[in-house]
Amino acid sequence: MRPRIVAGNWKMNTTRETARQLAQEVAQGATAGVTVVVCPPYPYLEAVGTVLKGSSVALGAQDCHYQEKGAYTGSVSPAMLADMCCAYVLVGHSERRHGLQEGEGLLQFKVAAAIKAGLTAVLCVGETLEEREAKRIEQVLARHVSSGLAALSADKMGRLVIAYEPVWAIGTGKVATPEQAQEAHAFIRGHLRTIVGHAVADATPILYGGSVTGDNAANLFAQPDIDGGLIGGASLKPTDFLKIVAAAKR
Ligand code: PGA
Repeated sequence: MRPRIVAGNWKMNTTRETARQLAQEVAQGATAGVTVVVCPPYPYLEAVGTVLKGSSVALGAQDCHYQEKGAYTGSVSPAMLADMCCAYVLVGHSERRHGLQEGEGLLQFKVAAAIKAGLTAVLCVGETLEEREAKRIEQVLARHVSSGLAALSADKMGRLVIAYEPVWAIGTGKVATPEQAQEAHAFIRGHLRTIVGHAVADATPILYGGSVTGDNAANLFAQPDIDGGLIGGASLKPTDFLKIVAAAKR
């Protein structure tokens, strides 16, 4: 049975103090049987990590570099994140893939580097509205998944999570319907089977992200190929986020 995972992506929000408070509330309200992850901004990793110590909530980061160390001004390596007790890292979030033009060549090295450092990589994939309207969803998803895994050997797949995040649904309030999301997840899983085989593909968690709220989460998570969520806006509101976490319980 695949694990249920709900990850909160706090993006460039919170202060040191509000980050600590949010982490505290999440840690106190987490539901057994659901893996809960929070991804605060880099400067607050240590403060949030301290709050989470001894709780069931895991620490994640929002991005990483693909090199272990060196002259890369402003960047943070996967090894540094592991050193800060991070267990997860997002790779290729659309705000970086599209917003900052991070290409597929770069993202595959980030995925491989993150996993090599002992982290679980959450590879984000998803089509834009333009690509959806042009009926290119499957083509785009296949490309994002294939390229994201290109530098990874099959034995490392246990540390990979995929997040399907249609770009048009992120931060817009326009959530994909459970049917639209399931269709994309089933396609991603089918595509994974062709790359890594049935057993590995069937064990890989695929999360949905894009305008998930406490009200729509249960219907999304009831779909057979949706194993949890990657949550942006609602992850900043503890009551909403915990409602989403509770909805992920089988
Ligand atoms: P949202 O963001 O929940 O605010 O739509 C999701 C994400 O960016 O991961």
